[in-house]
Amino acid sequence: MFPDIDSGFFGRWIMVKGSVLITGANGFVGKNLAAALKKTRPVHCLVRDKSFTMRGCRSFFFDRVDDEEVERAVSSSEKIVHCAAMLHGPKEGMHLANVAFTERLVALARRHGAAQFIFISSENVLQGLSDTYTKTKRDAEEVVGKFTPHTVLRPTVIYGPGDTKYVSRLIGIVRRYPVVPVLGRGRNRFQFLYIGDLLRVVESAIDGPVFGTYLIAGPKSISYNDFMALLFDLLGKKKPVVRVPLFLLRPLTILLDRVSDSPTLTPTQIDNIKKDRDYDIGDTVSAFGYVPTPLREGLLLLLSGECV
Ligand SMILES: NC(=O)c1ccc[n+]([C@@H]2O[C@H](COP(=O)([O-])OP(=O)(O)OC[C@H]3O[C@@H](n4cnc5c(N)ncnc54)[C@H](OP(=O)(O)O)[C@@H]3O)[C@@H](O)[C@H]2O)c1
Repeated sequence: MFPDIDSGFFGRWIMVKGSVLITGANGFVGKNLAAALKKTRPVHCLVRDKSFTMRGCRSFFFDRVDDEEVERAVSSSEKIVHCAAMLHGPKEGMHLANVAFTERLVALARRHGAAQFIFISSENVLQGLSDTYTKTKRDAEEVVGKFTPHTVLRPTVIYGPGDTKYVSRLIGIVRRYPVVPVLGRGRNRFQFLYIGDLLRVVESAIDGPVFGTYLIAGPKSISYNDFMALLFDLLGKKKPVVRVPLFLLRPLTILLDRVSDSPTLTPTQIDNIKKDRDYDIGDTVSAFGYVPTPLREGLLLLLSGECV
């Protein structure tokens, strides 16, 4: 059992050696990360949701970016993995969540002498996209870039247990509906990333340590059409496909984004679908020393409910 930093009068501001602070630890990536890292080190979770618990981890709860609890969490931790982000919503909210929060964390990391700042950015920043999410990720990268030493990870679309947004949503559609919508012509290429690979990269970034900026993607790209065919094969279901033109969908997603907290499809996702991904991840693999999980294997792990 790791020491409780709150025990004793002087425990309050003492940095716990080897500890890692994870922001957004109740999200898809953050939760998987906390579960993986807590096996080998003290993990601190910085979250807003007061009902959050993670066995063996210390939680810090905050309401606002300038909350004292944020400083307490940073000052108690040796390294920071910043996962929290707002993926869609109003511009001001996204700026506050993705840029202002990052600025505060970086300023506190500097003040309290954090040993490394790891930022989970997004591969979107490489795609010339100009939506609010991508812009705030770019701005946040700039903020993190001023902290020494830092590691910026730019993952492509991630799949794994706990994901409700992308691949798991498609699996749900294939399982439940009589027809499957394919957005656009389905020729664009994706390079889905298995969550287990991202966890190995983060562990290696911490332990290496590895500094710098890296694209993190799956081993190979696949067209949307071929990906759907793979899902049909793995799920043992062959469903009719309905093609939906993207120009019809975009205005609808803009409206959905305004009225829903959890829209089925966002304008960013539509813009994303139009872009091709076909990356060589050789440099990433040699920097972090891991074996990337082939898509078929990762999907089988996800479908079998096995651990990452
Ligand atoms: N999932 C992917 O495919 C993917 C791909 C590339 C990059 N990423 C990046 O990976 C990171 C994690 O993504 P995810 O898929 O795990 O997203 P997620 O499941 O939506 O989790 C997001 C986390 O951020 C927190 N958050 C949201 N708004 C916040 C705010 N205003 N202040 C503080 N915390 C806030 C959420 O906490 P609450 O529950 O309190 O809202 C949640 O813990 C993000 O930085 C994302 O940009 C994800």
